[in-house]
Amino acid sequence: MNETASEQLAIVVRNLCFRWPQGEPVLQSCSLEVPKGAFWMLLGTNGSGKSTLLRILAGLHPPQSGTIQTSQPLGFVFQNPDHQLVMPTVGADVAFGLVAENLTPKQTHHRVEEALSAVNLLALQRRPIYALSGGQKQRVAIAGAIARHCEVLLLDEPTALLDPDSQLDLVRQVQGLVKSRGLTALWVTHRLEELDYCDGAFLLQQGRVIAQGHPAAIQQRLCQEVEQESL
Ligand SMILES: Nc1ncnc2c1ncn2[C@@H]1O[C@H](COP(=O)(O)OP(=O)(O)O)[C@@H](O)[C@H]1O
Ligand SMILES: [Mg+2]
Repeated sequence: MNETASEQLAIVVRNLCFRWPQGEPVLQSCSLEVPKGAFWMLLGTNGSGKSTLLRILAGLHPPQSGTIQTSQPLGFVFQNPDHQLVMPTVGADVAFGLVAENLTPKQTHHRVEEALSAVNLLALQRRPIYALSGGQKQRVAIAGAIARHCEVLLLDEPTALLDPDSQLDLVRQVQGLVKSRGLTALWVTHRLEELDYCDGAFLLQQGRVIAQGHPAAIQQRLCQEVEQESL
């Protein structure tokens, strides 16, 4: 890959291999690229290695072989926001993620307000976290990443615990943030209807990308597989 091509990519994974201690290989020469400013989704059956891949991209585990490159800073949104939000109120939680940056109180306040506006939660700045819906909690987690000026968002089944309306609200919101702020997002899902909102998709099987490209083509392939299984 030449210099110009790599500058246009936010995530590059090359021949990545990984196994958990005492486990079978999970990622087996996995390779993928996500262009800057694009919204891509990652699909695959349970246990195919999606969460492992995201955790490695987030820097939580080093690759055992192969290479990864990601634009920085990078934000991670978990499936269950209750595992992510740590402070009592919306504004405090978003501000908490900025502690390491040693900003002045005024700068912090500005970043928090800007991030909450981006996810349409400014009015709820003082609301206790426990009083939020699941979809609102996911938006607070995303605001945390925006406040840190993240270039890349990794989202691991962020809609798994949401009702269908909040699910589509969230996916539309991330699509809008990617377009309006030039972010790059990699979103794990098993809900085929979410594919309508992304720019491209990867299909992971046994730790390898076995198909990628236009979301409609991936959607069609998965629908056919579901039909064949039910025959
Ligand atoms: N922390 C862990 N320790 C040991 N094995 C794990 C751990 N997390 C996942 N695995 C194993 O790795 C494989 C891939 O899991 P995962 O990446 O969670 O897949 P997916 O997200 O696609 O369902 C599974 O066999 C799973 O049991
Ligand atoms: Mg998973």
